[in-house]
Amino acid sequence: MAEVTLIQDGIRRQYFVPAGTPLMPLLQREAGFAFPCGGNYTCGKCRVRVSGGISEMTPREHALLSDAAEGARLACFLTVLGDCEVVVGSQGSAQIVTDADAVRIPLDPNYTGVGAAFDIGTTTVVCYLFSSERESPLASLAGQNREAPFGADVISRIEACKKGAVLQQQDVIRNQMSEMLETLCGREGVTLSDIQRIVVTGNTVMLHLLAGLDPSGLAAAPFTPESLFGSWQGWKLDGFSNAQIYLPDCISAFVGADITCSILASGMLDSGGVSLLLDIGTNGEMALFDGTCLTSCSVAAGPAFEGAGISCGSGAANGAISSVCIGQDGLQYEVIGGGKAHSICGSGLIDAAAAFLSLGALDETGLIADGETLSIGNSGLSLTQQDIRRLQLAKAAVAAGMETLLHEREIGFCEVGQVFLCGGFGSYLDAKSAARIGLLPKELVSKTKTIGNAAGAGAGCILQSDAALQRSRQIAQQAKTIDLSVNAYFMERYVENMLFKQGD
Ligand code: FES
Repeated sequence: MAEVTLIQDGIRRQYFVPAGTPLMPLLQREAGFAFPCGGNYTCGKCRVRVSGGISEMTPREHALLSDAAEGARLACFLTVLGDCEVVVGSQGSAQIVTDADAVRIPLDPNYTGVGAAFDIGTTTVVCYLFSSERESPLASLAGQNREAPFGADVISRIEACKKGAVLQQQDVIRNQMSEMLETLCGREGVTLSDIQRIVVTGNTVMLHLLAGLDPSGLAAAPFTPESLFGSWQGWKLDGFSNAQIYLPDCISAFVGADITCSILASGMLDSGGVSLLLDIGTNGEMALFDGTCLTSCSVAAGPAFEGAGISCGSGAANGAISSVCIGQDGLQYEVIGGGKAHSICGSGLIDAAAAFLSLGALDETGLIADGETLSIGNSGLSLTQQDIRRLQLAKAAVAAGMETLLHEREIGFCEVGQVFLCGGFGSYLDAKSAARIGLLPKELVSKTKTIGNAAGAGAGCILQSDAALQRSRQIAQQAKTIDLSVNAYFMERYVENMLFKQGD
């Protein structure tokens, strides 16, 4: 047997496998590691760092690795030959947003000692460690959601449940949470039994999976959840038998507890005037408060904003182009972590499309004017016509969702006083580029405020203040949801928004 030490997000885990075992299944199962081309040796994106007993590099692997000299390897090529160490941190965890610009809520916890808050996203998981005597977290830790092998988005995860994977996904996420919290406790010198309370937020599907409930009812009309939560749970996390667990209220089948928490942390209900909150990822979730009514909706944007489904795309990880602009000598770009560009993430994709529109290399219908691809400066990366089409679908869904939300309340974009952009993607989004491609109305560009991981901050508020917990309950009860799947106005605006608007 060979001992494989897996290092992910600073956590070390040991596995024993027979010599000759391919590495790919282990990384899929235990690390939620993504293999974008399915291990078909074509994308060059399954980069890891290895040492010890691992198979030699083949010419085909070498050809896909421009930075092989720096020690990078492609995991789908690798076979375990003996004891070895595998580091999988660089695929996507580097730029997960943990901070938030949230409202301050007076400390009023209903526990004494140490507590934790989690934000479980479809793609990422963030854990925060708190003391009952401090408003702000003691420490935080982020990682990729290890449920990824069950599917990149909530619909694929539900499909996996229909084939019997509810409890498997429950185990994966609970084990990940236990490990993350253990790591934070280790770093801060906290004994595991001292953790008294845990608040976990997430979208409606993620909370179903965590609670071990079948989310199949969320995938088709009449969209019936097993629970909308807002309750203390009867189960415990492994290793944390003293910790009571609370799942905040989801607003509906479509709009989860992450949005309840984001609304709470943004302070939008107390900001005066009309305000809009946007959390854009594989789902675009949004809420509008007009001073009286709180209305919300959710659109399926697809994975383009997370860089998935884009030929050279990735999440906001090291080596990804995160921004593009027009310089004197053509397109200039910035790479996360510096160095050579290996991919482009969602914010870079939007910047690049905006630049190509301004240069006339793309027309309003999204057609590439000359040739089949668009080169992103001298990066060696380029966008295909299909990449542009995927971006159009994603941005059309979000733009149409926003327009429908305002239409329902008979409010014009000029009347919106403030836009809160939350979540990882929102933190890197350039509002001007978003307006250039028609993702964001241009009237809103100067009104946007980036607030980071508001969902995680809201979960922290609920942990640290009983009044905030009660407020979160009121938010979910007060909010109305529009079902866009049967909304004729949304469908009309969706088609119209496929075009790239040629505004400024
Ligand atoms: S998953 Fe594409 S090269 Fe390994």
